[in-house]
Amino acid sequence: MCGIVGYIGKGCSVPILIEGLKRLEYRGYDSAGLALIEKGEIILEKTKGKVDALEGKIAGTRFESTVGIAHTRWATHGEPNDKNAHPHIDCGGELALVHNGIIENFSALKTYLEGKGHRFVSDTDTEVIAHLIEENYNGSLLLAISAALAEVEGTYGLAIISKREPDKIFTARRGSPLIIGKGDGEFFVASDVAAVLKHTNEIIYLEDGEIAEVRRDGYRVTRANNEEVKKKVQQISWSLDMIEKGGFDHFMLKEIFEQEKSLRDTLRGRLNEKEGTARLDGLLGYSEQLKKADRLIITSCGTSWHSALIGEYLIEELAGIPCEVEYASEFRYRNPIVREGEIMFVISQSGETADTLGAMREAKKRGGIVLGICNVVGSTIARESDGGVYIHAGPEIGVASTKAFTSQVLVLFMIALMLGRMRGLSKKEGTKLVKEAMRLPGIVGKILREDRKIGEIADRLSRHKNALYLGRGYNYPVALEGALKLKEISYVHAEGYPAAEMKHGPIALIDDDMPVIVVATKDFTYEKIMSNISEIKARKGWVLSIVTRGDTMIADLSDEVIEVPELIPSLMPIVNVIPLQLLAYHIAVKRGCNVDQPRNLAKSVTVE
Ligand code: G6P
Repeated sequence: MCGIVGYIGKGCSVPILIEGLKRLEYRGYDSAGLALIEKGEIILEKTKGKVDALEGKIAGTRFESTVGIAHTRWATHGEPNDKNAHPHIDCGGELALVHNGIIENFSALKTYLEGKGHRFVSDTDTEVIAHLIEENYNGSLLLAISAALAEVEGTYGLAIISKREPDKIFTARRGSPLIIGKGDGEFFVASDVAAVLKHTNEIIYLEDGEIAEVRRDGYRVTRANNEEVKKKVQQISWSLDMIEKGGFDHFMLKEIFEQEKSLRDTLRGRLNEKEGTARLDGLLGYSEQLKKADRLIITSCGTSWHSALIGEYLIEELAGIPCEVEYASEFRYRNPIVREGEIMFVISQSGETADTLGAMREAKKRGGIVLGICNVVGSTIARESDGGVYIHAGPEIGVASTKAFTSQVLVLFMIALMLGRMRGLSKKEGTKLVKEAMRLPGIVGKILREDRKIGEIADRLSRHKNALYLGRGYNYPVALEGALKLKEISYVHAEGYPAAEMKHGPIALIDDDMPVIVVATKDFTYEKIMSNISEIKARKGWVLSIVTRGDTMIADLSDEVIEVPELIPSLMPIVNVIPLQLLAYHIAVKRGCNVDQPRNLAKSVTVE
């Protein structure tokens, strides 16, 4: 949510800031701006719109500045316009800052500061921080920032420059990620490693409550009491081409097509065919608790919540452990029951989602053991959890999650398999599951070859304003995810439903203008879903079914089918979601939507 990048070094900061912003634009993109220290003065440039608009605005101006901060925004307080765009400055124009997060007590602070004579120009919560630092300034910027932040309630990732101390960038974090990138005679500040990867892969992660003073030749990190903290420099293994489009029109399409590889990466070194199990090192420390657990909780948001639902089905089927799946935003605010030593899995691609993080901290406070399932190495959830599993899907830039979803489900499959083997699943059965999992990436590759056909079906569907997605059993969460993908990127209203529930409401919507997409591959619900399709056809509904290759029965009932190869039902969600991802993608493109940056959404939701 929002992107921050800052640079202090030897070269001109502007191209570095603009390039960094472009890499962060997937996190928020309704306005953009930068602030520089140029010949001892603060220069401010900002505008509504995307980074391109900012670039256009400053084209032709020559800058020499080697110190600057920049921001791409996802509005929380105040509509997206020029004046609300970051950076924000204090009354004296002495300092400029950019902010991710939400200042919850901004209204009270604003009233207090206005009483002291400060003049506000924006409607944002962020601007209060600039004035609060100004108010607290007494010769030391670090102390002023520290004093100001002590009065702030809420979350922030901040980067601040000031002409009082022109050779520094100050940065601070509470609840919103921030990193420092270490270069050669230059340093970077960013909310996400993607912004600095072109220049360095040596990263310092700030923790909540830390403030850093970053210079050209080094940095110093302190906590609120001004006590210095020694930080580790970590090497990031992601490379630049992993965060570029590589010839595809959109990141989303690239990421859909990467799934054969990302699933292989998720599996790598983790399956043990001989023992019929999976080895997940990050869970080894909790084997005893997992063996004895009489309940597991899984929490997450958005697409990750859909993978959690599949996780519930998997763990209950393969390991016989009751699971509770909770929206993180609900869990954290409803006095949840977490017994001492009870295990909660937390799923988050970014590892930064505010509600998921909040739920995780709540569970820990109540004595729970929290195990993360994350993609971004070194992310807050990954660092704060007691253990866990990385999904190794590689960077996901498209706002609509695709490859992270399939890798999450695959990790959950391996967890269920491992738990199952600990709790009575036979070696023979385990080995069969391992063999099927090994076939999965190749099968996904085959479905991707159906892209052209799916594009043609999308042609037919792109004219409709609504769609209903149905599935049963393992395919019910797949229907939810298919519908979410469509609404996220094409703005078509789509609902996912358990197929049998259709007759309790959605059936009233069925007519020839309501396409129904049914996930109907062969499993124990096959006959039942066939009846559901007949019910739709009897009401003149138009049906697209995802079917097992060679299935003529459902094909005869449906108006259109997409065939997929067969695997065991517990792995079919990963197979079946691929055509739905492609369908949503093609419909969105045909409707002229911005697939990678859908309106109002952000990749990483670091506000509640
Ligand atoms: C946002 C993204 C979704 C994602 C959700 C949870 O809404 O747009 O794609 O599923 O956040 O994100 P997480 O990083 O926690 O999986």
